[in-house]
Amino acid sequence: NTPTEVELIGKQEVLPIYKTRDQFSHKGSFGHALIIGGSYGKIGAAILASHSAMSAGAGLVTAFVPKCGYIPMQSSLPEIMVITDENEEYISNIQFKIKPTVIGLGVGLGTEKETSEALKVFLTNNKTPLVIDADAINILSKNTDLLALLPENTVLTPHPKELERLIGKWKNDFDKLKKVKAFSKKHKVIMVIKGAYTLTILEDKIYINSTGNPGLATGGTGDVLTGIITGLIAQGYQPLEASIFGVYLHGKSADIAVQSLGYEAMIASHVIETLGDAYIDLF
Ligand code: APR
Ligand code: MG
Repeated sequence: NTPTEVELIGKQEVLPIYKTRDQFSHKGSFGHALIIGGSYGKIGAAILASHSAMSAGAGLVTAFVPKCGYIPMQSSLPEIMVITDENEEYISNIQFKIKPTVIGLGVGLGTEKETSEALKVFLTNNKTPLVIDADAINILSKNTDLLALLPENTVLTPHPKELERLIGKWKNDFDKLKKVKAFSKKHKVIMVIKGAYTLTILEDKIYINSTGNPGLATGGTGDVLTGIITGLIAQGYQPLEASIFGVYLHGKSADIAVQSLGYEAMIASHVIETLGDAYIDLF
């Protein structure tokens, strides 16, 4: 067990990460995020992630969803382009002609056998940076041979149950940290361990987030985080910077939203609406 370096992340720590915009920038300067996810009854997850990738500042966002996601996507998010799988209800064959800067994979994906097979084929051929969440993490947990296919610095954003499926049960918090560090080293991945005070871990370095509140304990807020981190990588933030900054912005946005909405009424969509205020707070 090697020594751990710990940093608490607040506004002063994210300011040097934040990239201000050049007056002469254009949408090509801010990359193209692809969100792959959604299944029958869980298209909302892909909508939330696509919307937040766009609001985090990606130049372009495309969503890859099963056929049943086409109309809900296009009608709720006019800014977003949509590619559909050949299957109606879940993703069965991940193929596209676009060249995204980054791919956010897994929100609302489901764990159908065909989806899991499609993920195998996709990961075998993929070289694009990845942010992996939710059911894509669950599929990796059941097919651990796929972990070797992940590009270096892939970001994984498990909630506690997803983490347990991925690294196994831990005895206590120290054991959990040891296991996560070992996992990050072995697979060369960035681990975003979600919950109150989300931890971003790369090998022996741990970044503890200081923003966020219990109003975030509501369905869909994790999908928003996936979209934010994906949107940041699209704009040229390195995966580690994007994870630290994305977790901070997500929490800050929720802290702003909760002031007018309260813990109970605040929902995931509100966290996207106040993202702009979280950016403005940096000035
Ligand atoms: N304080 C601060 N932040 C919190 C708190 C809290 N008390 N509780 C939750 N959060 C934050 C987490 O840090 C994380 O960013 O809210 C987010 C919750 O993310 P998820 O647990 O992934 O929840 P979500 O994705 O919205 O749930 C929908 O997706 O992952 C699948 O199967 C999962 O059913 C779940 C579905
Ligand atoms: Mg989630």
